Amino acid sequence: MRGLIEFTNFCKRNCVYCGIRRSNTEADRYRLTKEDIMECVDIGDRLGYKTYVLQGGEDDYFTDEVMIEIIRMIKEKYPNNAITLSLGERSYESYKKMFEAGADRYLLRHETATKELYDELHPGASFEERRQCLKNLKEIGYQVGAGFMVGLPKQTNKDLVNDLLFVKELEPHMCGIGPFIPHKDTPLKNNKAGTLEKTTTMLALVRLLLPNVLLPSTTALGSIDPTGREKGIKAGGNVVMPNLSPTSVREKYSLYDGKICTGDEAAECRQCIEGRIRKAGFKVEVTRGDNVAWKKEHGYNFVEEKIQAENIRIINK
Ligand code: 5AD
Ligand code: FES
Repeated sequence: MRGLIEFTNFCKRNCVYCGIRRSNTEADRYRLTKEDIMECVDIGDRLGYKTYVLQGGEDDYFTDEVMIEIIRMIKEKYPNNAITLSLGERSYESYKKMFEAGADRYLLRHETATKELYDELHPGASFEERRQCLKNLKEIGYQVGAGFMVGLPKQTNKDLVNDLLFVKELEPHMCGIGPFIPHKDTPLKNNKAGTLEKTTTMLALVRLLLPNVLLPSTTALGSIDPTGREKGIKAGGNVVMPNLSPTSVREKYSLYDGKICTGDEAAECRQCIEGRIRKAGFKVEVTRGDNVAWKKEHGYNFVEEKIQAENIRIINK
C-alpha cells in the first residue's frame, strides 16, 4: 500500500489525453506547500503507510533545490519510510541529486511503446527521451516504475504487444497499467474509455511476463468499474495507492473524468481499501513494499522488516 500525495497540478506538458495538460484553461491549478505535504505524510504515517508517492505535473516551481528540501524533510522525520517520486521527465543530474537526497523510487510511465502513437499523443515531446529517462533512473539506482494506458484511441493489440515487449526488456520494478478514460476538457473528450476486460488481461500478462513486478491495481481501473481494483488484484495486481492528498485539492487533480475517492478523507480511503482487499480474499501488507528482487539484490534485512510490520499491527490494535 502506498499513500499518494498529488502535490501540484501545474504542468508544462500538453499530453492530449490528460486533464491537467497546459492548454486546459479550465483546470483550477494548485500547489501544496512544504507544510501541506508534511501534513499529508504525518497523516500517512499515522495510518500505517510506510511509503509515500509524491506525484505532480511537470511544474518548474519544484526545482531540484525545492524537491531536495522536501525529500530531506520527510526522510529526517521518517528515515525508514520510502519516498517515491512521480514528477515526469527531468535531467540525469536532477534525478541523481534527488536520489542522493533520499528518494528511493521513481514512477514514469512510458505511456505507449509505439512511437507513432506516442508522438501523436504527446505534442512537443520525444519518445526516445522518455525511454532514456527510464534507463537513467534505473542506472542511478532508483526502483523504477514504467507503465502504459490501455484503450487509447487508435491503439491496437499490436501496440499492446509492443508494451509487453518493452516492459519485458526494461524489467522495471513496477508497472502501472490503467485504462484510458476521456476527460471533458481535452481533445480526446469524445473517445471511448479502455475496458475493464482488456486492462485486467494486460495486468495478467504482465504478471506472467515479470513474476516479481509490483503491479498496481490503479485508481483509473477503480473508476471505470465499482470493483475494478478488486478485479485488478485478482488478475495479478499487488499494489494499491490510496489517496493522501488533502480533500480540498482532490477534485483539481483531475487527469480523467469520474475519478473515485475525490470526496473521501485519507482515513476513509485507508479503511475502504483494506476492507475491499480483505473481501477479495487478500491480506494487506503494511511494509515499505520494496520489489522482492530488488530487496535480494540489496541484502535487505527481512527480519527487521517483519519486526516493523509486527509493531505497526500492535499500534493499530
Ligand atoms: N486516462 C487514464 N489515465 C491517464 N493518465 C493521464 N491522463 C489519463 C487519462 N485521461 C495517466 C498517465 C500518467 C498517469 C499519472 O496518469 O498514464 O502517466
Ligand atoms: Fe478511497 Fe475507497 S479507496 S473511498
